[in-house]
Amino acid sequence: MAQTESTAAGGFELTVLPADDWPAAVGDELVARVRANPRLRLCLPTGDTPTRVYARLAQAASSGQVSLADVTIILLDEYVGLAPGDAARGDNQLRHDLLELLPEKPRQYFPIRVDELTAEEAAEAHDRVADGGLDLALVGLGLNGHVGFNEPGSTAESPTRVVTLDERSRAVATEEYGAGRSPTRGVTLGLARLLQAREVWLLATGESKAGVVRAALRGPETPDCPASFLRRHPRLHAFIDTAAAQELG
Ligand code: GLP
Repeated sequence: MAQTESTAAGGFELTVLPADDWPAAVGDELVARVRANPRLRLCLPTGDTPTRVYARLAQAASSGQVSLADVTIILLDEYVGLAPGDAARGDNQLRHDLLELLPEKPRQYFPIRVDELTAEEAAEAHDRVADGGLDLALVGLGLNGHVGFNEPGSTAESPTRVVTLDERSRAVATEEYGAGRSPTRGVTLGLARLLQAREVWLLATGESKAGVVRAALRGPETPDCPASFLRRHPRLHAFIDTAAAQELG
């Protein structure tokens, strides 16, 4: 059963769902958003959390319930220094988890151009894309409280930039996403840019995220947990499964 909590005074909306229901619920909500605005400008994360949401979205597109042809997709973050075909790369994950599953490709898709440009130029170019406006930004949550690659130390004012990856993010790249080498840097949309989106959805699942979900949603706003700054957003919706919500109280 879904638990929905709306906190007053600039608070956020919280939806807690059993793990089995979570992907379909978030996916269907996303389908509804695209149907309401077929030209949605959408920032999407990669990683393990959104994969089943994307599968649901692709399924809806394949069965004609929705079309993503006119949507603009803007990638949230990317590693620097990994080979173009590396499985861990955000562009490859998104291609594999969503784009290849769609019957019609989105007309506008913006990966982060780390191959043709220097990392700094790629960050600048990507920020210009995001400056065109984000209707909805989906973000995952790192075990260290990162959002995109806004690693600990980031603030609500952090711009889109090249970052040095935290130890934990480097380990995730090789151990979970199968990176061919351990990346040391990344490019991320900044928290400042994400906070300008019209709407932000924070996605987190699984027991391992319980502590960081509590820190992000109940703890103090602090650079130690950059996701905590998302609570400044007037339209933040956290979609959490019961395992990841177990420490919310
Ligand atoms: C990764 C990515 C983020 C992602 C987050 C959570 O390192 N840079 O974009 O949202 O960490 O990943 P996961 O969903 O695999 O736990």
